[in-house]
Order: sequence, then structure tokens, then C-alpha cells
Amino acid sequence: MIYMSVTIGTPLQASAFKVLLLGSGELGKEVVISLQRLGVEVHAADRYDHAPAMQVAHYSYTLNMADAEELKQLIEQVKPNLIIPEIEAIATQVLVDIEQQNIATVIPSAKAVNLTMNREGIRRLAAEELGLPTSAYRFADSLESFRAACDDIGYPNFVKPVMSSSGKGQSRVKSFDEVDAAWEYAQTGGRVNQGKVIVESQIDFDFEITLLTVRAKNAETGEIETQYCDPIGHRQDAGDYVESWQPQAMTPAALEESKRIAHKVTAALGGCGIFGVELFVKGDKVWFSEVSPRPHDTGLVTLASQFQSEFELHARAILGLPVNTTRHSVAASAVIYAGVDDTNLSFSGLNLALSHPDTDLRLFGKPEGFKRRRMGVATARAETTDQARELALRTATQVSVQQN
Ligand SMILES: Nc1ncnc2c1ncn2[C@@H]1O[C@H](COP(=O)(O)OP(=O)(O)OP(=O)(O)O)[C@@H](O)[C@H]1O
Ligand SMILES: [Mg+2]
Repeated sequence: MIYMSVTIGTPLQASAFKVLLLGSGELGKEVVISLQRLGVEVHAADRYDHAPAMQVAHYSYTLNMADAEELKQLIEQVKPNLIIPEIEAIATQVLVDIEQQNIATVIPSAKAVNLTMNREGIRRLAAEELGLPTSAYRFADSLESFRAACDDIGYPNFVKPVMSSSGKGQSRVKSFDEVDAAWEYAQTGGRVNQGKVIVESQIDFDFEITLLTVRAKNAETGEIETQYCDPIGHRQDAGDYVESWQPQAMTPAALEESKRIAHKVTAALGGCGIFGVELFVKGDKVWFSEVSPRPHDTGLVTLASQFQSEFELHARAILGLPVNTTRHSVAASAVIYAGVDDTNLSFSGLNLALSHPDTDLRLFGKPEGFKRRRMGVATARAETTDQARELALRTATQVSVQQN
């Protein structure tokens, strides 16, 4: 017998199947477009007006999603079938309650969202409960305990506020002399000023990857199965991704080990959807770094490389539909930054950038730019990853940002 999956109604009508997106950035925007194509009614929320995903949703809401009351009210008003947290700065306890009371399904699961919003939750799960290989680590919540943790872990080490992302408040500490400054810096970069940091030993990796891992239902049995995209290599600058490519060449043993780690951690987090599993690789050896229970920024490359991008995979998986993770091309992506702090920016040079037949662009439509704010991405297909990277970087550079 074929199992009966979701029924999708008509948007803006009583039968609508509703999704509420919490966080409306560029990754959410692509998820919304994928959901729109399947006839889903989309509600998008963020802390500021005209965020990228809001621009393609049926309804949008501006609120502080870290405020439990505001968030609860929004959920009561929208009455979504699914809630998709697209960022980590959310009152996650509200989502745990919503899931418990069966009011809506939290994607991929309230547990996943709750554990991954805090580096301590996910690190303890991965290393202590699941026994996965990670860097050595300590947690500290005062200057005193931080100094001790640094000495314990040794140098160089990486310091990160437990509640932060995109490299905010993060530093690489090379010696004891730099410890106090790293503490100060960490205190300014966290989401919630609770002061706690993780100190990690430096892993001397050959390269790092994102292994996009999808948990989706089998079309016939309804059983959740795990599938993997080809590994994505990427380069980070100050904790932020600047270019990515797919596939990243690696040994069969390292790929097997990467899948084993990804399977274990995503199964523990549960639910359906895509996960960005970040791994460090040296020869055949693999370390777990962290995981996003949602599309990953480095996975923007899949817009050019796969039949179903990570966003389409996510949309299908969360609706209980089958997925196809096959890659059709070698491709790369390169980030386009604002380069200035200003609003109302313009983008030119697009004709040149797109003159090569194997290139493409996404401009996110963010109302305000900062020097290091991601405003768009260039993608390119080629015969080899080196050629694809070169073309993607050139394409990104050909786009120039102007103030008005
Ligand atoms: N223990 C480590 N050893 C070596 N390199 C590390 C370590 N921790 C972090 N890095 C480097 O710093 C980058 C950012 O770290 P991490 O992913 O933990 O931060 P983040 O703020 O969550 O970043 P993002 O949100 O962009 O994923 C990693 O991709 C890696 O290049
Ligand atoms: Mg990361």
C-alpha cells in the first residue's frame, strides 16, 4: 500500500496549507520560492521590514522572534501547519511547547532547533552522547574559568560565544597574551549576553566540507530515509563563507565516515528536512564541527549543481515528499558583499557577469547593506571545481555595488 502524504490546499483559501517561516534571509527566500511552486501558503517573519523572504511570501510580519510572547501571538494568529525556524535567535521554548501541544509541526523538530541554537547543546550531544569525534573543548562563563580553559586546551584555540553564528564574537587565540582580549571580544558578539563561550582545540584539517543530509519520507512506506548530497568544499574568512564548490574530492573512507557522522547526528535530532553537517577532514580522518537543521549558506552552490537545490530538497522533505539529491554538474558559488554601509544600493555589471553561459546570480534584495553583509551570490558550472571556482569568483567580482 502506498502511504498517503500531505494534502496541499489552495493558498489564500480556507483549504490553504500554511507554513510560517521564522527568519526571512536569503536562504529562507529560496525555500519560500520552492514552497510557492508547490502551492503552499507562506507567511514570513523577521525583525525588520522587507527582508528577502518576505518579498516572495504571501504575508509578512515584523517582530522580535526572541520574545516569547510576540512569537506565541504570531503563531496563534497564523495557525500554520508547519513552522520553519530559519535563524537561531528565536524563543525556542515556545517551539518546544507548540510541538508538545500538537499545534504545529516544528521543522525539523523542536529538539533539533533547541539543541543547535546553543553550541553547548549540540556539542555535548555529538561528543558526549553520540561519541562522535570532535575537537577537544571546554566551556567557560567567567574570565577566570576562561583563562583556565584556554590553558587546558592549549594554543592556538578557537573561542566562540555559545549563542552566536557567522563568526560573531569568534577568535583564534594564539597564545596566553591574547586570552583577555578574546574574552572581551566574545562578550560583544553573542546573541544573548549570557557570557558563556566554548574553547575548542584547533583541528589541523586538509579541508572542510558541508555534507548536506536530507531526512525525507519514502514515497511508498512513509518511513524516513537519509540521503546525502555530494560533499561541498568551502573557504571561510573570519567565520563567514566566501566561496563553496561541489563536489569536494575526498577519499572513499573519509566520505563513508562523513556519512556515518551525519547519519548519527541527524537521526538524533529527528524530523524531516535538510541539515548542513559541517565536518573537518584530514586524509581518512573526519571531525564533526557543527550542524544546521536547515539549508546551509555554503549549499547555495546546489542552485547550479543539482536537479533539486538544497532549498527544493528542504521544501519537499518537510512536506513529506520524496527527494532526489543527484548532482548534474560541477559547480561553485562566490559571495557578493555590499562593501559599504548604506541602504538603497544598486548593482551593475550584471550583463558582463552573466555573459558566460554557465554563470548565474542571485541578488537578495536586502534593504540595507554593511561592508561585510552578503547581498548576493554568483554561481558557475565548469568541467572541474578549480575552473568553477575561478569562474564564480570572477562573476562575483564583475558585479559592482553602487550607492544612490
Ligand atoms: N576547532 C577548530 N579548528 C579549526 N578550525 C576551526 C575550528 N572551529 C572553527 N574553525 C574555523 O572557523 C569556521 C567557523 O566556525 P564555526 O562554523 O564553528 O562558526 P559559525 O559562527 O557557526 O560559522 P557559520 O555560522 O558561518 O557556520 C569554521 O568553518 C572553520 O573554518
Ligand atoms: Mg559553521
